[in-house]
Amino acid sequence: MKLRSRITGTGSYAPKKVLTNYDLEKMVDTTDEWITERTGIKERRIASDSEAASDLAVQASKKALESAGIRPRKIDMIVTATVSGDMPVPSTASFVQSKLGARNAAAFDLNAACSGFLYGLAVADSFIKAGMFKTILLIGAEVLSRFTDWEDRSTCILFGDAAGAVIVEATEVDRGIMSTHLYSNGSMWDLLYLPGGGSKHPASKESIDNRVHYIKMKGNETFKVAVRTLEKLVVETLKANKMKPSDLSLLIPHQANLRIIQATAKRLKLPMDRVVVNLDKYGNTSAASIPMALDGAVRTGRLRKNDYVLLEAFGGGLTWASVLMKW
Ligand code: COA
Repeated sequence: MKLRSRITGTGSYAPKKVLTNYDLEKMVDTTDEWITERTGIKERRIASDSEAASDLAVQASKKALESAGIRPRKIDMIVTATVSGDMPVPSTASFVQSKLGARNAAAFDLNAACSGFLYGLAVADSFIKAGMFKTILLIGAEVLSRFTDWEDRSTCILFGDAAGAVIVEATEVDRGIMSTHLYSNGSMWDLLYLPGGGSKHPASKESIDNRVHYIKMKGNETFKVAVRTLEKLVVETLKANKMKPSDLSLLIPHQANLRIIQATAKRLKLPMDRVVVNLDKYGNTSAASIPMALDGAVRTGRLRKNDYVLLEAFGGGLTWASVLMKW
């Protein structure tokens, strides 16, 4: 029997503090109506001062471990997809490893921006198929609020803080990850980036004055490329598996903008009741958005055994990715 990988547990965590569109009306020149119409977002969560990415990640991971019925010591590897980790060094995964007591686990972070979780699923799938590891904890965790320019109305309305986690296990049953598809185009890096804090623009008084430690985005251009790219990606993913859109029980897209999600669903002629949307409550949580949405679908019974589910994402890099699974 062929070795495959399967998600056997899911968990998610969002900080308690809610920031609504009405709250944002008091901070920048915007309205609830504009944000709702252009993005579908109504509110997002903001981490408390004492919460860093690893704290959110640990909460989500504990739930994923519990739902998979696995003890931390059984984990062979921890991968955290994030662009807003606790520190540049060590990795956020290292903090998670320590806080969970996962003493047998390798640990590292992965940066593919909003596509990070799906890149991580491809990594987990590959390690398992290669026979190197059997049990992997994959997390998407972001505290984007720390990198959001709260004076820039074109970006601060979009992002939120959250974490989602999954346990990926080796299996010989005919369920689990069927295919993974990863792409990038680094020549379009300047559509979405965070210039400060790295080796190109290290922190200085000047960098702070110039507000380079915040996310920058060319929203409208990014939007158009995202729609075009994702429409092509989902069609290619189904074709690679000789499947039709009607075979899908559920589409779980990255939660960036409701209009992007609707365009992808329309391309597949999928009714919106087969598409998971939670950005109204959480905004765009980058690498955390798909595992959050997946956990919600599992816990509300929207995803059942043997269902076919397509996950897709698009983000900074540019990067884009999809994963097809039999649940
Ligand atoms: N409130 C009110 N007006 C706003 C605003 C806000 N929060 N933000 C921008 N505007 C204004 C702009 O200044 C502009 O005004 P102008 O026409 O007078 O210049 C107008 O609204 C239109 O701006 P535009 O950027 O063209 O809007 P849009 O319809 O493209 O929506 C985004 C903006 C950011 C919501 C949308 O482009 C988007 O979601 N982009 C992609 C996000 C994404 O997928 N990211 C990658 C994956 S993470």
